[in-house]
Amino acid sequence: MIRLTMDDRTLAVPPGYTLLQAARENDIPIPTLCAHEALLPYGACRLCLVELVGARSRLVASCAYPCEEGLKVRTNSDAVIAARRTVIELLLATSAHLPIVRALAAEWGVRSPYVTLETNDCVLCGLCVRACHEIVGVGAISLTRRGMARAVGTPFQISSADCIECGTCALVCPTGAIRVEDVTRPARRAHVWQSDYARRACRLCEYEPPAMASADDDRELLGNVKREA
Ligand code: SF4
Ligand code: FES
Repeated sequence: MIRLTMDDRTLAVPPGYTLLQAARENDIPIPTLCAHEALLPYGACRLCLVELVGARSRLVASCAYPCEEGLKVRTNSDAVIAARRTVIELLLATSAHLPIVRALAAEWGVRSPYVTLETNDCVLCGLCVRACHEIVGVGAISLTRRGMARAVGTPFQISSADCIECGTCALVCPTGAIRVEDVTRPARRAHVWQSDYARRACRLCEYEPPAMASADDDRELLGNVKREA
């Protein structure tokens, strides 16, 4: 076991744990947006920043930082709270209409952003892209473009030949930016990409979609993948 100190508590966790896993297992709250237990760490949203205390204190993303013997970590220092509030302010700048962003702002006392930018339902957490790659094994979507134009999309912004329309991207999206609906059995429409797709079998898990699966079927499938992960 690895021993470390988090907020003056001594924790013992198995090797390979991240700081976020150690915190969660010990009921130490750390907000997250781009972390998902079924997916590899990504470190995109920076909400989960914590402070490593020592000669050279610094902030690290707890979802991606491995636990090390003797580490001293603070999850709620002034530096952590200031950084977290800045992250939330940036989220508010584009996505103040999203319930998840409003809830974060209320919890951390962030009232209004310094700037406002073009409204966006997507917070670029990358969960959908990683779920498509890591869980479904397809890679039909990716994060495209740079800077302010950064967005999730299909190659060349046209219907992806690889998409099996499983809907996993929509299920993991924390903001509802990806809307998928059944249009004709068994076809689905991904509104965000203005594309219709016929549902097809998953090459990875060999799941054969029934003619019309419900959202509950998909949730159960995703749950099974998580348990096996
Ligand atoms: S569409 Fe949703 S899951 Fe994908 S990056 Fe944007 S907010 Fe995250
Ligand atoms: S949850 Fe760690 S960076 Fe997003």
